[in-house]
Amino acid sequence: MKMNMKMKMGLVLYVCVAHVLLYHGAYGGMTSSFVRKEEKSVDMPFSSDVFSHPPGYNAPQQVHITQGDHVGRAVIVSWVTQDEPGSSDVVYWLADKTDQKYKATGKITTYKYYNYTSGFIHHCNIKNLQFESKYYYEVGIGHTTRRFWFMTPPPVGPDVPYTFGIMGDLGQTYDSNVTLAHYEMNPVKGAAVLFVGDLSYADHYEFHDNSRWDSWGRFAERSTAYQPWIWTAGNHELDYEPTIGETKPFKPFLHRYRMPFRASGSTEPLWYSIKRASAYIIVLSSYSAYGMYTPQYQWLFEEFPKVNRSETPWLIVLMHSPWYNSNSYHFMEGETMRVMFEPWFVQYKVDLVFAGHVHAYERSERISNIAYNIVNGECTPVHDKSAPVYITIGDGGNIEGLANNMTEPQPKYSAYREASFGHATLEIKNRTHAYYSWHRNSDGYAVTADSVMFFNRYWHPEDDSTAKNN
Ligand SMILES: [Fe+2]
Repeated sequence: MKMNMKMKMGLVLYVCVAHVLLYHGAYGGMTSSFVRKEEKSVDMPFSSDVFSHPPGYNAPQQVHITQGDHVGRAVIVSWVTQDEPGSSDVVYWLADKTDQKYKATGKITTYKYYNYTSGFIHHCNIKNLQFESKYYYEVGIGHTTRRFWFMTPPPVGPDVPYTFGIMGDLGQTYDSNVTLAHYEMNPVKGAAVLFVGDLSYADHYEFHDNSRWDSWGRFAERSTAYQPWIWTAGNHELDYEPTIGETKPFKPFLHRYRMPFRASGSTEPLWYSIKRASAYIIVLSSYSAYGMYTPQYQWLFEEFPKVNRSETPWLIVLMHSPWYNSNSYHFMEGETMRVMFEPWFVQYKVDLVFAGHVHAYERSERISNIAYNIVNGECTPVHDKSAPVYITIGDGGNIEGLANNMTEPQPKYSAYREASFGHATLEIKNRTHAYYSWHRNSDGYAVTADSVMFFNRYWHPEDDSTAKNN
């Protein structure tokens, strides 16, 4: 029997036991006392309607798009055909010029993972699109074509408003479905998703059952086919399993998901940058080498000076493993990358850093911890108006459940923390202001649980701390 996910979603909305925020004045910011009913997160079964295969022979499935160039005039369309290669063509047209259709031809890749053989994975980069336009696109042939649409972003510019959704560690549980539904139903409409890693959690299964990569692709399609998701690699993308002969890290992830890394001079898809509207997004890989002289280090070293804040005022970095995390889960795992890169983040005035990995939510104050030099003992984070705010948003709802074991007392650098599933939105208004809000799944679609008006570090470097009046 097929499950009705909307009914299921109703069942998994959790009871609010207490809804009062306590302020721990002596130490850090707020530890929300919102107590979510403890319940294990369970993956939805393959028979769930969210995983259903599109009808028709060899119908394209797992459709997803991402930005295909550095400025937003290209889109990479990806999909899978299960039965035979089929066509790698994408037919696309402007919504208001239906008589003029264009065609681009992509490429097919396949891979094997232990006893699994992938379907035919298609990637097609459609280029030279008009800015700020609605396009329809069609994939598949014969009786099994499928049609979707997307909006290209406005041209890059300093005061262009743009809204991003932010999610991480999504997985494919009933909670994952609620998170995605809340993002879709949020009255604040994200136009692109910044995804901070850990997609399918297929590695939770024996032999990393890669059909869970396929089911995740079908589950997420309802969003990923219509707006670009900007991908960051998490540890669950590694799929490194030498016991079954799988020794090439990121094999399934990199066959299935594409990034426009060459457009930013990167030599690997795991770290790259894009411009989108008024934002400059840098994506880093927590699970690739980043020590001095490594490709990622060298690329980032050359990348920061290229950011022109008069063109893209908002400098945002995505990574999987957080640098500042007061949860005992994954405590200090991001420390070595922080040591390598944090001085640059302060020097170049990064506005915001989004990370995942920890299955909870946390927002930091603007702090840095770059004074320590082994001998001076200055190893405590300090307020720093040139530093980014660090946000951990690994609360998408995956099978590993919530991380609710916080370190006590709450450190001073931590402004707000809570172990609940949810998502966030970032509404860039202009070069100086961006309204950020985090939404817990347990609330209504329009309710914000944590929100801040962030001030741009380059154009308006005033105090935007939420604790400044306390
Ligand atoms: Fe992770």
